[in-house]
Amino acid sequence: MTQVAGDADYGRIGAGYARIRRTDPRIAAQVHAALGEARTVLNVGAGAGSYEPLDRHVLPIEPSPEMRRQRPAHLAPAIHAVAEALPFDDDAVDAAMAMVTVHQWPDPVAGLREMRRVARGPVLVLTFDPAELGRLWLMDYAPELQAVEASRYPAIDTITTALGPGTEVQPVPIPSDCVDGFSEAFYARPESLLDPAVRRAQSAWSFLPPGVEERIAADLRADLESGAWDDRYGSHRTRPEFSGAVRLIVSR
Ligand SMILES: C[S@@+](CC[C@H](N)C(=O)[O-])C[C@H]1O[C@@H](n2cnc3c(N)ncnc32)[C@H](O)[C@@H]1O
Repeated sequence: MTQVAGDADYGRIGAGYARIRRTDPRIAAQVHAALGEARTVLNVGAGAGSYEPLDRHVLPIEPSPEMRRQRPAHLAPAIHAVAEALPFDDDAVDAAMAMVTVHQWPDPVAGLREMRRVARGPVLVLTFDPAELGRLWLMDYAPELQAVEASRYPAIDTITTALGPGTEVQPVPIPSDCVDGFSEAFYARPESLLDPAVRRAQSAWSFLPPGVEERIAADLRADLESGAWDDRYGSHRTRPEFSGAVRLIVSR
């Protein structure tokens, strides 16, 4: 069975994902509020199950066997399927959600239209605004990473247009102790990004040319040791929240 359905090879980089990429309760509260009264919820690109509500009937779909394997026993097993061809009838579920996955789909517009087709109620997309990725200090060290990410994430307009009129874009504040280990989650904890396991749970690094990841990590390590990072960015350490590029897009 194929290990690669999206652009990242989770057969290669996925081990350990569920340890680093966990549901952040503050972000989950925003997601679950947007689900409204929905009782049946399709989770597309469900991975190991982050952000799945525990008090509703969730139908997860996930193409990567490595990611399906990491789903905890208390969550439903995921069906092998892709966003672009959802195995559900029109209006089959109350709501559909896609958490930090749309950038990996070969055809995001087709996948989003599929979500709109099968959901009677809200369609939710948690994603990053490619135009706002430069807010994070990491990109000063890693312009190659920013370029990779900017080319992967669909423009917010592309998503709202695919989902149709009345689609709302909500900013998602990132708490300083965010437990979902995407790169912005570490805005106040730069040392964490020196851990190769943390970087492996962020697929963008796997697209860099050989040697670039090592150079970025070495530059960051040197600046942390010399105090240069704190001189320039140290105020981030005590900020309770960060307004980065994360967005929750809600089509009702
Ligand atoms: C960064 S992970 C996010 C997983 C989970 N939603 C979370 O928030 O932790 C992205 C997921 O999208 C899945 N994916 C890639 N291409 C896909 C596609 N075409 N349709 C559905 N899921 C896809 C990947 O296998 C991976 O599990």
